Amino acid sequence: MFYLLKSFIQMKILLNNSDLNEALYGVSDLGFVPTMGSLHKGHISLIKKSLKECNKTIVSIFVNPTQFNNKNDYKKYPRNKSRDLLILKRLKVNFVYLPSEKHVYKSKLKIRSKLTKKEKVLCAQFRKGHFEGVINVMKRLTMTIKPSKIFMGEKDFQQFFLVKKYLKKFIKTKVISCDTVRDANKLALSSRNLLLKNTDYKLAGKIAQNLISFKKKLKRVNSFKKLMLSKKKELEKIYDINIEYLEFRNKKNLNLSSKIKGSKIFIAYNLDNVRLIDNF
Ligand code: PAJ
Repeated sequence: MFYLLKSFIQMKILLNNSDLNEALYGVSDLGFVPTMGSLHKGHISLIKKSLKECNKTIVSIFVNPTQFNNKNDYKKYPRNKSRDLLILKRLKVNFVYLPSEKHVYKSKLKIRSKLTKKEKVLCAQFRKGHFEGVINVMKRLTMTIKPSKIFMGEKDFQQFFLVKKYLKKFIKTKVISCDTVRDANKLALSSRNLLLKNTDYKLAGKIAQNLISFKKKLKRVNSFKKLMLSKKKELEKIYDINIEYLEFRNKKNLNLSSKIKGSKIFIAYNLDNVRLIDNF
């Protein structure tokens, strides 16, 4: 009981920027884990890494409207604030930042970022304005919090890649990538998995397993582009799904790749209007 009480007292919940400035005054070596809540073991792995590597850890929960290119997707995004707070308290996170939209977007700073033509690939090609929204909110949150390190998941590799690139231009904060956490069926954990029907949940696991073993057996070929196209058709046929993209790209620059080393397979597909992404 005393143990539980102690961890409750330790965590500070910050609802606006003045709470935040007061609480963070004099805090150094701060690790930041940005999230949209509905926390799962993927988020928890980032938080544990921050707790281990940094003196103090702050987690933000903010479902950012500007990164949703579809209003319905924003509306139905799962929200579980009380459960999230309980998880964070048990983890002994030092600070939780729960800003309102008004607080995040009150400053009229001109910090819009436009993706280059070369960057408009993978999700950027299919979700217009999504990464501009992510970069915008990440700049705002980072400028307010001023952390030493930000911890982000490889699960959203393109997000990690672009946030790292665009933050680097204006702040010293290091952006650190963390491995993807998967369930027993190899499906990458995601808050969106909560929206899947049981049958689709199982199917998504099978797709992940298929691509993991495909990647393991990958050999040099003349054209990875052609290989991925035929793999895409095969998966669409076997699992009766619609794949947005299945591509083999270089981890360093996200260009289409012709080498196995340093490259990843990227996929995005929909199961009953739930959009899933992964990389292997
Ligand atoms: P959200 O989807 O909540 O994810 C928060 C962080 O958790 C991201 O860095 C994401 O890559 C990581 N993550 C998600 N699933 C994971 C998994 N299975 N294993 C490891 N890490 C995982 O991504 C966002 O929120 C937002 O776009 C945000 C960056 C907060 C900006 O609004």
